[in-house]
Amino acid sequence: MAKNDARFVCQDCGAVHRKWMGRCDACGAWNTIIEEQAPEAGPRPAPKGRRIAFEPLKGESAPPPRRQTGIGEFDRVCGGGLVAGSAVLVGGDPGIGKSTLLLQVVAGLSTNTRVLYISGEEAIDQVRLRAQRLAVVDRPVSLAAATNVGDVIASLDGRDAPEVVVIDSIQTMYVDALDSAPGTVAQVRAAASELIRVAKRRGITLLIVGHVTKEGTLAGPRVLEHMVDTVLYFEGERGHQFRILRSVKNRFGPTDEIGVFEMSDRGLGEVHNPSALFLSERRGDVSGAAVFAGIEGTRPLLVEIQALVAPTGLGTPRRAVVGWDSGRLAMILAVLETRCGLVFGGSDVYLNVAGGLRIGEPAADLAVAAALVSSLTGEIVPHGAVVFGEIGLSGEIRAVGQTEARLKEAQKLGFTQALMPAVSRSGRAASAASAAGSGFARRELAELADLVAIFAAAAQRRPRQSETVRS
Ligand code: TYD
Ligand code: MG
Repeated sequence: MAKNDARFVCQDCGAVHRKWMGRCDACGAWNTIIEEQAPEAGPRPAPKGRRIAFEPLKGESAPPPRRQTGIGEFDRVCGGGLVAGSAVLVGGDPGIGKSTLLLQVVAGLSTNTRVLYISGEEAIDQVRLRAQRLAVVDRPVSLAAATNVGDVIASLDGRDAPEVVVIDSIQTMYVDALDSAPGTVAQVRAAASELIRVAKRRGITLLIVGHVTKEGTLAGPRVLEHMVDTVLYFEGERGHQFRILRSVKNRFGPTDEIGVFEMSDRGLGEVHNPSALFLSERRGDVSGAAVFAGIEGTRPLLVEIQALVAPTGLGTPRRAVVGWDSGRLAMILAVLETRCGLVFGGSDVYLNVAGGLRIGEPAADLAVAAALVSSLTGEIVPHGAVVFGEIGLSGEIRAVGQTEARLKEAQKLGFTQALMPAVSRSGRAASAASAAGSGFARRELAELADLVAIFAAAAQRRPRQSETVRS
């Protein structure tokens, strides 16, 4: 009996294994499995239930009331503000700025909402120092340093019960009844489910911080994703000041919405025009760079994609990618080689999304291809062009959604043409009307070979131009 008490739990995905392994079968993560005590299985009462009253789909259900935090980027990512009684998980790497963001959020709310900030990681003094830095010290935010879930729940009662509570972080919280250490899957799950249960019953909005941990010594936020209503990830590259808040699950709003922030010495500032920001460091027309007209959530976003194709010094050429999927890069390279006859085999290929953004959209394929071909040939991408479109394995360029929004953003930022997929006939009628007289050229490409032809034509034109200059 005693032997069965032990079980081995992946701290990343929560999968339970019967023996220890170096790599989790379920999620493929390495060194994330640790031994935990099985929860007590005690005698269960005989199942005896009440009949459930069923309801029709149609009925009077008002949209949930929302609280605006005053931080527009945060509110939009949440779907228009925080919903009462909902649980929001804010995940991210340590040091990315989760505590800073949530302190700003509760400070923004505190003018008309009772808010509580419970820190399990930092002493009150540290939180106060941060509040000074953020210039929010005089806001009526109630602070506490606590880690015992029982104590926290007991403090949510009473006439001055809070309406919004921050738990920073869930990995430091523990439930008395469990033997496991704080930060293990068992503790993190138990602590979160207790807190969420109580918060839902009392209509409290719960903001839970969860560190993403690579080593697996702490349970990651993924084990909580199914319990909460909204999952936000706070992302960014170290060394960049941009931070991106991304909603990956939202029961009360859209997903894949992003909010863009800039970390300064006085906290996180909102970035209202992210395209301009992501393009601000662009060095004009250089080879190996293409501007991708992307969509993040509901918002168009222009971002530069940079490629470097360099002769390799190694037997196996390197392929290094930042901000994009490396499998997808391999696919684009294969299509360029097979369908267009270009040769990357003897070259290292580096790909980078400028500004530290991560792109997941397949629409970036064509921009990646343009950057690659540009770097390989040394020809620049046509002046003033944005690029978007999905590439299929046969080299065809496929239409992508929200063409008009992409083009509008490009025009707004002074671009004059787009290399893009052919729009369907009905769409073209509408778009021709909207583009009439705007001086914006749509160069619709059907095949990847058409893109390569643009660079080849530019290469042919150039020597002739230089001849005329000389003569
Ligand atoms: P923090 O919110 O503590 O990160 P997390 O809670 O995700 O671990 O942010 C820590 C980093 O942010 C730290 O490196 C310092 C930096 N920072 C600033 O640059 N400016 C600021 O105004 C604040 C408060 C923090
Ligand atoms: Mg923190």
